[in-house]
Amino acid sequence: MAVFLLDKPLFLHILTQLRDIKTDQIMFRKGMVRLGRLIGYEIANHLDFDIVKVVTPLGVEAKGVVIKDLDNIMIVNVLRAATPLVEGLLKAFPAAKQGVVAASRREMESSSPPTEMEVEITYMKIPKISKNDIAIIADPMIATASTMMRILGMVSQLQPKRIIIASVIASEYGITKIRNKYPDVDIFTVSIDPEINNRGYIVPGLGDAGDRSFG
Ligand code: URA
Repeated sequence: MAVFLLDKPLFLHILTQLRDIKTDQIMFRKGMVRLGRLIGYEIANHLDFDIVKVVTPLGVEAKGVVIKDLDNIMIVNVLRAATPLVEGLLKAFPAAKQGVVAASRREMESSSPPTEMEVEITYMKIPKISKNDIAIIADPMIATASTMMRILGMVSQLQPKRIIIASVIASEYGITKIRNKYPDVDIFTVSIDPEINNRGYIVPGLGDAGDRSFG
C-alpha cells in the first residue's frame, strides 16, 4: 500500500479553509468540491499510461500519453459526507460509474479514544464492475477506519484491478488499520492527523464533515 500525501500549497490552502471554524457551510462545501477535483487529478497522474504517437494538423507526428484507465473508474460515494468530494472527483473522471453506500457511525463519549466505532450500513448499491476497473472509495474523514473497513470488505470481493481511497484527513491509526488488512490499497489524503478524541473525531481535524457541508 502506498500513502500519497497531497501536501502541496494549494491542497493545504483549501484544507486550512476547511479546518477553520469560521468557514461557513457554502464555502465548506465548495472547498470539498475543489479538493475532490484536485485529488482526482492527482489520482489520474498515478494511473497506468501508454506512450502513443498522434499526427497533428501540421501532418507531423507527436509523442503523447494515453491514460487507459480513465474510462475504467468506479467511484463509491460514502454518504453523506463524501458527496461534495465525489462531485469534484467526477470533474476528473467524468465517465466514472458510481456506487453509493449509506453508512452512519454510532457516536458516543467514552473514557478513551475508540479503536472501533459501531457502523450501520443502511443502503448500498455498487454497479457491476470488471477486473479492469479501478474502484475509488471517497470518504473525506478516516478516523478509526471502521466504516472504510466494512466498505473495503465489500469492494474487494468484486476484485477490481486496483482500490484507491480518496480522503481529505486520515488518522495515523486509521491508515495503519487499513494497511494491516489491505496492504494493496492506495490512500490519497491531504493530511494525516495524529489523534482521535473520545467521541471518535479526528484531532485537530475539521469537525463533522457531513454537518459542515450540509448544515
Ligand atoms: N467523521 C467526520 O466527519 N469527522 C471526524 O473527525 C471523523 C469522522
